[in-house]
Amino acid sequence: MTELMLALDVLTRAEAMDIAEKTYPYIDAIKIGYPLVLGSGLSVARDLAEFDLPLIADFKVADIPNTNRLIAEHVFEAGFSGIITQGFTGRDSVSACVDVAHNAGGKCYVVTEMSHPGALDFMGEGVAERLAELAVECNADGIIAPATRPERVKALRQIIGSKKILSPGVGAQGGSAEEIAPLIDSMIVGRSIYNSEDPAKAAQSYSCVRDL
Ligand code: XMP
Repeated sequence: MTELMLALDVLTRAEAMDIAEKTYPYIDAIKIGYPLVLGSGLSVARDLAEFDLPLIADFKVADIPNTNRLIAEHVFEAGFSGIITQGFTGRDSVSACVDVAHNAGGKCYVVTEMSHPGALDFMGEGVAERLAELAVECNADGIIAPATRPERVKALRQIIGSKKILSPGVGAQGGSAEEIAPLIDSMIVGRSIYNSEDPAKAAQSYSCVRDL
């Protein structure tokens, strides 16, 4: 089954709660990051917890181990159940996030290859494979890999085996839900849902990927 994760990149608490209220019956998890947290404060995590869905902090953490640890501790104390970290900072920095996540009973996911065109300037074939290997070695729970490049997701799956693949890039970035769903564990969709005139209907239309 492929889950549907809503990327809730709206800018205010009111908008976030409104979209979550409309869509929660059709989604399996919520991901928020800098747009919403800088707009509304970290406490928005407690408000979103009322929907009783996994809540992922997409801060793409990318610092030295001590700073990564301090960031991750804030994230899990705030009520998140998972965190996304960059992998290029290296083994010790990734392990710091993984350790905090697991001590809190949460999950940690490592970015491998990003979904936008510019990602290939530095993070394409070769580097992404090494980042996926690092995710496995650090006992991360999974990776973030691009729905815009299904062939790359297949290659990264060979490395990570049964660990989770969370995949952004469907809809607004041009990725196909039908093509990517069978290759991944969770499809991340933002604008195509929260900018829709009818977010509930849009989320429902994507939720059919569960059966692909
Ligand atoms: P859209 O609106 O494009 O939102 O459906 C996608 C969401 O996913 C985030 N994003 C990524 N996160 N690695 C990540 O960790 C990526 O390659 C990547 N591409 C997109 C984006 O910030 C938004 O929240």
